[in-house]
Amino acid sequence: MSWKAYDRNQPVMDPQAPPVLTEAVREKIRSFFPRYETKRAVLLPALHIVQELLGYVSYQAMKEIADLLEIHASDVLDVVSFYTHFANHPKGRKTVMVCRSLSCELMGGKAVLEAVKNTLQIQEHGTSTDGQYFLVTEECLAECDHAPCLKINERTYHQVKATDVSRILADEKNAELSIARSSLFDPPGH
Ligand code: FES
Repeated sequence: MSWKAYDRNQPVMDPQAPPVLTEAVREKIRSFFPRYETKRAVLLPALHIVQELLGYVSYQAMKEIADLLEIHASDVLDVVSFYTHFANHPKGRKTVMVCRSLSCELMGGKAVLEAVKNTLQIQEHGTSTDGQYFLVTEECLAECDHAPCLKINERTYHQVKATDVSRILADEKNAELSIARSSLFDPPGH
């Protein structure tokens, strides 16, 4: 991931902008409060909920999450910018994550990455023209024994060959999981 400098003297959002978090989203985030000792501890579930619903976590959303959790907006920005899984800008509907660590590189990961770039006609951190895919590389996806690996959203593909890539990307159901992502962030009993 390339570094990005934030000019903290420049406002990054319109103070008059209407809220982006609906009451239903706020209520879902609040429903996590009893599970943790502090509201701050709900930050990661809150970010996952918001990113899943909005596609990314805008500065406006970060401010609203901060208000809800009674923390500073810069604390939310720190977490969003630390984890590559969170985006602060609009991106493709699905994220393709290609592993760039050693095991995958030794097993042909670079060729897989090139095949993804060529198929989608984008570079890293780019979104395909149809808005379907956003491409990033990632450190070890923790499945080195199946290298080379890539993920589409939360679904992992093992032992991928460059020649498999166009077929995988053409499959409309390529990001489907047996457990819906959102259910991972539902409180017990929901
Ligand atoms: S090096 Fe690619 S999954 Fe670990």
